[in-house]
Amino acid sequence: MNIATNTFPTKELQKRDAAHHLHPFTANSDLAQKGARIIAGAEGVYITDTEGRDYLDAMAGLWCVNIGYGRHELADVAARQMAALPYYNTFFQSSHLPVIELSEKLAELAPGDLNHVFYGSSGSEANDTNIRLARFYWALRDKPSKKIIISRHNAYHGSTMGAASLGGMSYMHAQGGMPIPDIHHIEQPDWWSLGGEHSPEDFGKIAARRLEEAIHFLGEDKVAAFIAEPIQGAGGVIVPPETYWPEIQRICDEREILLIAVEVIC
Ligand SMILES: Cc1ncc(COP(=O)(O)O)c(C=O)c1O
Repeated sequence: MNIATNTFPTKELQKRDAAHHLHPFTANSDLAQKGARIIAGAEGVYITDTEGRDYLDAMAGLWCVNIGYGRHELADVAARQMAALPYYNTFFQSSHLPVIELSEKLAELAPGDLNHVFYGSSGSEANDTNIRLARFYWALRDKPSKKIIISRHNAYHGSTMGAASLGGMSYMHAQGGMPIPDIHHIEQPDWWSLGGEHSPEDFGKIAARRLEEAIHFLGEDKVAAFIAEPIQGAGGVIVPPETYWPEIQRICDEREILLIAVEVIC
């Protein structure tokens, strides 16, 4: 176990944290009373708090520590790169070796003709970019009216204005005037809560056809893209029936609708 190097008492850290740090997805009044759980170290699949308690980190950080904690080979490579070239942007026709090599690798791993990579710093930012890319794509193809992005109720696409608008969580929409214009939500493919008497196979097709109905209702000339998590994560780890995605692909192919698969935590 990676023993915490912290020497401050937990209570003191909790007080300092509550005094100056606004936490996302947290009731700050509760936090001020109870104090945060303060993580001091981690190794493999375990994290350790400042009281020396170990936890199995089943969520892998915020679903992102895919290879576990304490990977010295990554720390070494990062330290060497920080010394050689800690930062450079790729605006204005600039590039550098790490970004060239990573893009090549991702293109090799991604299926079919998914051969180009545009980088963001977070999933939320990536999804804001998706809105712009999809709309700009259609504008360049002389179809500027194709602006609407269809998403799903109970989807989670991040916490920026665009991403939270794509998300289908109404308590998030209530903060700050969301959704932004030209976002439309359809039903989620959650057989367990919505399937009723249908078999999973039938329900998968029924849920996918909600997309067809929405495109018909909104007008194909107005819809830019459909965005969805292949498996809904934050909404409850919802795996759609096997019939869902092939039907979605058919609908997007038959109409001119871009399909955005958000695999941020998938
Ligand atoms: C499907 C999906 N999209 C977007 C995001 C937002 O990513 P980030 O927290 O890096 O902004 C998440 C985060 O869990 C996610 O699950």
